[in-house]
Amino acid sequence: MALKITVIGTGYLGATHAAAMAELGFEVLGLDVVPEKIAMLTQGRVPMYEPGLEDLLRRHTAGIEGSSGRLRFTTSYEEAGEFGDIHFICVNTPQKHGEYACDMSYVNSAVESLAPHLRRPALVVGKSTVPVGSADLLAARLAELAPVGADAELAWNPEFLREGFAVQDTLHPDRIVVGVAGDRAEKLLREVYQTPIGEGSPFVVTDFPTAELVKVAANSFLATKISFINAMAEVCEAAGGDVVKLAEAIGYDERIGKKFLRAGIGFGGGCLPKDIRAFMARAGELGADQALTFLREVDSINMRRRGHMVELAREAVGGAFLGKRVAVLGATFKPDSDDVRDSPALNVAGQIQLQGAQVTVFDPKGMENARALFPTLAYAPTAAAAAEGAHAVLHLTEWREFRELDPVSLGTVVAERRILDGRNALDPDVWRDAGWTYRALGRPMA
Ligand code: UDX
Repeated sequence: MALKITVIGTGYLGATHAAAMAELGFEVLGLDVVPEKIAMLTQGRVPMYEPGLEDLLRRHTAGIEGSSGRLRFTTSYEEAGEFGDIHFICVNTPQKHGEYACDMSYVNSAVESLAPHLRRPALVVGKSTVPVGSADLLAARLAELAPVGADAELAWNPEFLREGFAVQDTLHPDRIVVGVAGDRAEKLLREVYQTPIGEGSPFVVTDFPTAELVKVAANSFLATKISFINAMAEVCEAAGGDVVKLAEAIGYDERIGKKFLRAGIGFGGGCLPKDIRAFMARAGELGADQALTFLREVDSINMRRRGHMVELAREAVGGAFLGKRVAVLGATFKPDSDDVRDSPALNVAGQIQLQGAQVTVFDPKGMENARALFPTLAYAPTAAAAAEGAHAVLHLTEWREFRELDPVSLGTVVAERRILDGRNALDPDVWRDAGWTYRALGRPMA
């Protein structure tokens, strides 16, 4: 009999995973405790902007014309417990308020709500990013609460998807990592992934702690790479070097690689910042904090970028923001997403506003979320409208739309042709040729 799958939590990770599992031919039930989310998904609508996800979802959601009908949604744990052979936990683990540690309450609550409804052998698979050691505790809790006892097994299967590429990364992962405590769990997960998803993807089988650590180790490495190049940008600025050329040149060394060497205002989002902090907190609990002291530096280099951008902008408008208009292009933490969590762009916009400038923001997809998080900033419907009368334009999220802006026509609406490129993504020559003063982080002035 074909395996039936439930996916608990329908954010970026869960919604994509549920749709991908349906695409592979499994019967899938998605569960979320937020009824509004479930109502939207049931109508084939995705509660966030993620390229390609809505199409994938509509191809399978029951009740949508022409769909396979393999994907349904519910808010009921009882229904999920009865339905699934495998239950994927995809809820988030945000940073705790005022602490480095992450908040495990959603994961704990998912396991504790599901377990009492497991009356036949089932595999619960954690995909959320958790502190190492969580899986052991959750496995014990599961066996204790499930009527089926030890036949409710746990496995850990971290997810490496990037927002903006969630569908592609889920259907074609670089690798599949599973942490298991027994053969049955491994067999079931091999069955799930012995599909087009697993084709060509290395399948790494390991224990719980290693599987949990793989995820935070990967994100720590990526964060370190970004902060490394941003540290080089600081030195380049002091020495008159060009960090973009430097990154290109070191990136030709295959051991280093070109990716994740884009210097700018640094990383943000719901993952990298909170993952490195939670990793440090957990290492501290384990008595291994010295091993991760470098991550403190990675974090502080990253946070320094935002302040530095504010400084450059202040310098650019003549030393004080009062009475100046500043246009901010970009609000999301990265392009192709509407996510504004810990967004460097909004943080910079907020700081500049606090220092007295009139700040107007435009973002292609993140306006609604930005307004909700920073209601006191002004928002404009287009890049040109945001730039109207600006003494400086700040390019803070590298949407393609901004790279394609025409500096000549934009030059006619601003008060001063001055652009600061916080992502090193615009072509300096094009802007300078159109009469703009172009300034970027880690690059010479002209
Ligand atoms: C990240 C990981 O890449 C992914 O594997 C994991 O599952 C979740 O966390 P995501 O947060 O979606 O994914 O974004 P990512 O593309 O990694 O970018 C993170 C941040 O780093 C963004 O703010 C981005 O602008 C910034 N970044 C990225 C840089 O500043 N420079 C770079 O060279 C690359």
